[in-house]
This record gives sequence, C-alpha cells and structure tokens, in this order.
Amino acid sequence: MLRFLTAGESHGEKLIGILEGIPSNLKIDEKFINHELLRRKMGYGRSNRMKIESDKVKILSGINEYYYTTGAPLALEIINLGKEIPKVDYLEPRPGHADLAGLIKYNQPDAKYIMERASARETAMRTTIGAICKLFLSEFGIKIYSHVISINDVESSTNYYDSSSDIDYSIADNSVLRMIDTKAEKEAVEKINLAIKNGFTLGGKVEIIGTGVPIGLGSHIQWDKRLDSKIAQSMMSIPGIKSVEIGLGEKIKNLYGNYANDEVFYDKVRGYYRKTNFSGGIEGGMSNGEDIVIRLTMKPLPTQANPLKTVHINTKEETLAFSQRSDVCAVASMSIVAESMLAISLSDSFLEKFSGDSLEETKKNFTNYKNYIDKR
Ligand SMILES: Cc1cc2nc3c(=O)[nH]c(=O)nc-3n(C[C@H](O)[C@H](O)[C@H](O)COP(=O)(O)O)c2cc1C
Repeated sequence: MLRFLTAGESHGEKLIGILEGIPSNLKIDEKFINHELLRRKMGYGRSNRMKIESDKVKILSGINEYYYTTGAPLALEIINLGKEIPKVDYLEPRPGHADLAGLIKYNQPDAKYIMERASARETAMRTTIGAICKLFLSEFGIKIYSHVISINDVESSTNYYDSSSDIDYSIADNSVLRMIDTKAEKEAVEKINLAIKNGFTLGGKVEIIGTGVPIGLGSHIQWDKRLDSKIAQSMMSIPGIKSVEIGLGEKIKNLYGNYANDEVFYDKVRGYYRKTNFSGGIEGGMSNGEDIVIRLTMKPLPTQANPLKTVHINTKEETLAFSQRSDVCAVASMSIVAESMLAISLSDSFLEKFSGDSLEETKKNFTNYKNYIDKR
C-alpha cells in the first residue's frame, strides 16, 4: 500500500526519498519532521559529524501550497552538510561493515563506494518518511514511543514488563541517552566515557511501543501478511540491529504456558482486553488492540578508534582497518530510526486494512470498522 525508496550517499550532495501511498488531505507539519530529525541526531557518544549536520527536510512534490498532501508521491530532500571526505583510497575494509562483501559483489576497486551507501546516514531519510507516517497515524489516535533499556550491561530499571506503574515516555526525550532511569543513565554515560577513552564501542537495547493500534492490522492468512513478520523485517533493516523481539521476546521461554499467554477479558466500556501483554499486542500475525511492544538489540558499532585487523585488498597483507570519525554508541539515535520504521510498517498495514485515496475516505472506513467492533 505504502512504498518508499531512498537514495543518496553519506558524503554525497543530498539524501533523497520518495514516498507513495499517503492519502490526500493529510496536513504535513514540516516543523514536526525537522524535530524528528533533531531527535535522531541526539545521544551521548555520537561522532562530531552530529555537530556539523543540521538536518532539514525540503518537500519537493506531493503537497499543495497549504501543506496538505495531494495523493501524489512525496519527493523529499535533505542536504548533507558534512560532505568533506578525505581523498584517499579505502583499501582496508572494515570488519563488521558492508565493505568487503560489497566491493567483491559489486566489483568495486575501493570500499568507499560501498560504505558511502551502507552508512546509517541514510536513516535520516527514513526518519523523515517515518515522521510523515507518524502524522498519518496520529489522525487515528496511534502513537509511537521509544526508550533505551540498556547500554552494554547497564540496564534501565524501567521497562514495559518490569515497571509497576505506567511509564512516562516523554522523560526519554530529556535524557542524553533516552534512558528513563536516571541512575542507569549516569552509569551508562560513565561507560561511554570509558569506551571513548579506550577506543572501543558499545551496543545496547531499546524498547519501541505503539499505542492505540486497533484490532486487526496484519493477517494470519499468509506468511507475508503477518504484522509481526513485517515489523521484524523493517526493524532488521536498520544497520547494526542483531535481534528483534516482539512482546516479552526471548524471556518468554522461561515462563509456563498457562502464564505466558495473555488471558482474554471483556468489559462493556473497554470491550475485549487483556490484563497482561506478553504477546506484545500481536497474536496470529494480527494486532489485538493492546500496545505493540518491540525490543531491539544493537551490536557495538564496528568502526573502532583502535581499528581491527583486516587485509589490504590489493596486497592481501594483514593490516588495520581504516578508521574515520565514528560514533562510540548510537543506541539512542537508533531508537528514533526504529520508531520511524514502526510508523512506516503500521501505516502500511493500516492502509492495507482501511485503504482510501483521501484522508476523509480512510477515516470513514476506519469509523465504520470501529462501529462494527463496538458491536462484537
Ligand atoms: C543511527 C545509527 C548510527 C550508526 N553510526 C555508526 C558509526 O558511527 N560507526 C559505525 O561503525 N557504525 C555505525 N552504525 C552501524 C553501522 O551502520 C552498521 O553496523 C553497518 O552498516 C553494518 O551493518 P550490520 O551491522 O547491520 O551488518 C550506526 C547505525 C545506526 C542505526
């Protein structure tokens, strides 16, 4: 229903995006998009490039003079400010990156032609597209939040399953690491300082939550229609992600089956509901009306200030990987990219269910369905 493409290199002129499938008459708030880009840039432990880049979107097509979508594809542009790249050959592929496999596969003489596109700089455009999807979803009361639940072995005491009261996700936006637990945040900052001092990098884990998602996005009838499979693919597409968990994820294996599955209750006002949400809001590949809960693990970033061993691609001699300015920890920034990818996946499944060429048509279909659900 929704499709998008991105183009552009890390140190190229600009990043380009094309987004097709957003219904007409959605108000596009450029300030909101730019704020989302700012959120992606933040996070303690990021490289100096973040001081250079000041990402702003330019919308080239698909909206009218009043900033409402027309139904035509949206063409989007972000200018790269951090363009300068040293004019040297990159003949020492970096372990953990696309460099070596990419230059062999595409028969390139130099890793720079691979790293320039494989770079996570591209996720700035995905954040832009995700921001437009967030605007679309908010028309239907769907909201997306994220926070960091661990940096390396420093765990936040606040997470969806262990916190006894409702979590105030807005706190994450005021934390340098998007951690809600301030004690853990302090420890994680110290850990990052240690990593900076010693020239290594750190990974971690985030939680992404979608609220207000109606029953019935995705489907059990075919493998590629399942909402969980779509979400897993979109999350795994983020550079550096090594595992995706839905709901309690990996921890569910330790529970007994009579406790691990969420019992169903009914209330005249709420309709069907659960007292637990171990399934993370998805059963049989469909949203079940509860919060969508996703956890992602990011690996420690591959570029190290103390470079790893590699092989020179011409001489085949052992050498050290080239090292350029690089983040030490990008988990906080990744959580915003993950919010965006969830917004894109949910918008796609939402439009598959409710369709509509104009926002009015989509809303009518949605309201009809809501009325139907209320009677079930
Ligand atoms: C927001 C964000 C920023 C990143 N910054 C860096 C970085 O500065 N240095 C680095 O080596 N990897 C960074 N990465 C991770 C690499 O892009 C990624 O590990 C690499 O492209 C290989 O992909 P893979 O780990 O999925 O196999 C970043 C990832 C994200 C999502």
